[in-house]
Amino acid sequence: MRVLLTGAKGFVGARIREALPVMEAPSLRNADRAAIRRLLAETRPDVIVHTAAISDIGACDAQPEASQYTNVDIPVMLAEEAPGAKLIFFSSDQVYGECGEIGPYAEDTVAPANLYAREKLEMERRVMEIAPDAVLLRATWMYDAPLYDVPNRHNLLSLLLRAAIRREPMTFSKSEYRGITYVREVAENIPKLCDLPGGAYNYGSENTLSMYDTISEIVRRWGLPVELREDDRSHHNLWMNCGKIKRHGIHFSDTVQGFERCLRDYDLNILTK
Ligand SMILES: NC(=O)c1ccc[n+]([C@@H]2O[C@H](COP(=O)([O-])OP(=O)(O)OC[C@H]3O[C@@H](n4cnc5c(N)ncnc54)[C@H](OP(=O)(O)O)[C@@H]3O)[C@@H](O)[C@H]2O)c1
Repeated sequence: MRVLLTGAKGFVGARIREALPVMEAPSLRNADRAAIRRLLAETRPDVIVHTAAISDIGACDAQPEASQYTNVDIPVMLAEEAPGAKLIFFSSDQVYGECGEIGPYAEDTVAPANLYAREKLEMERRVMEIAPDAVLLRATWMYDAPLYDVPNRHNLLSLLLRAAIRREPMTFSKSEYRGITYVREVAENIPKLCDLPGGAYNYGSENTLSMYDTISEIVRRWGLPVELREDDRSHHNLWMNCGKIKRHGIHFSDTVQGFERCLRDYDLNILTK
C-alpha cells in the first residue's frame, strides 16, 4: 500500500514516519493546485495521511489568510485531486472549545471557540463532501519526551520537566477536562484507520480527571518535584468521548496510563526512584 504523508517533519508527522513506511510529501507551504496535482501524479497514493497545518491557535489569528489556505484550502485540494485515495486527515479537539455542557463530547456536538477550530471544522465538512469515506481525526493535545533530531514542540511533558528542573510551580484548573495523548500511540494506530468508515472520530486518550487532578496524579506517580496550584478561572473543556473509534477496535491508554507508558518507553523510571 502506498501511503503519502504530509507534514513529515512536524511533531506528529515525524513520529508517524518512524512508525510506518510512508512516502514523504515535500513541504506544502504555498503549494498551489498544480503542485498538488503533480505530487499526486508522481506518488499515486492509496492512502494520504495529512498532518501539515498551521496548528498554533495564535498563529492562525495572526495570519488568517495563510491559515485558511493551509488548514482548509490545501486539504480540500488534496481531496479533490486524489479521487480513490483513502484520506486520513488531522483535525482537533479544539472543535469542542465552546461546548456549553461539561462533557465528554461525542462527535456530533461541536462548538469551535477560535479561528483554528473553525478552520478545522470547515476542512472536515468540505473534505467529507468531496470524499465521504475520508477519516477525520479530532486529535487531543499530544506529548513526547524531548528528543534530539526530531521536532519538539512545547507539550505537557516538556512543560512538566521544565517546571521540575527549574522548581517552578504550575497552575491547572479543577473544572477543565480534556484528554492528553502520547504521540507514539497516535502514530501506532494510523495503520488501523485505513478500513474505517468515513467520518469524524475523536482520536486519543480519554480522561475522567480534571486537569488539576490529572497532573497531580502524574506528578505523584513520577515523583516530580512540581508544586501545583489551582487555577479557578473558567476554562473551555475539550473533553472527548472516544467510544466511536473504540467500537472499531482502536484503543489508547487513558491519559495517566499514557504518561506511564512514555516513562517506560524512554526508561525514565529513574525519575520515580
Ligand atoms: N500537536 C498537537 O498537540 C495537536 C493537537 C491537536 C491537533 N493537532 C493537529 O495534528 C496535526 C499535526 O500537528 P503537529 O503538531 O505535527 O503540527 P506542526 O508540527 O505544528 O506542523 C506540522 C507541519 O505542518 C507544516 N506547515 C506548517 N506551516 C505550514 C504552512 N504555512 N503551509 C503548509 N504547511 C505548513 C510543516 O511542514 P513543512 O515544514 O514540511 O512545511 C510542519 O512540519 C495538525 O493538523 C494539527 O492541527 C495537533
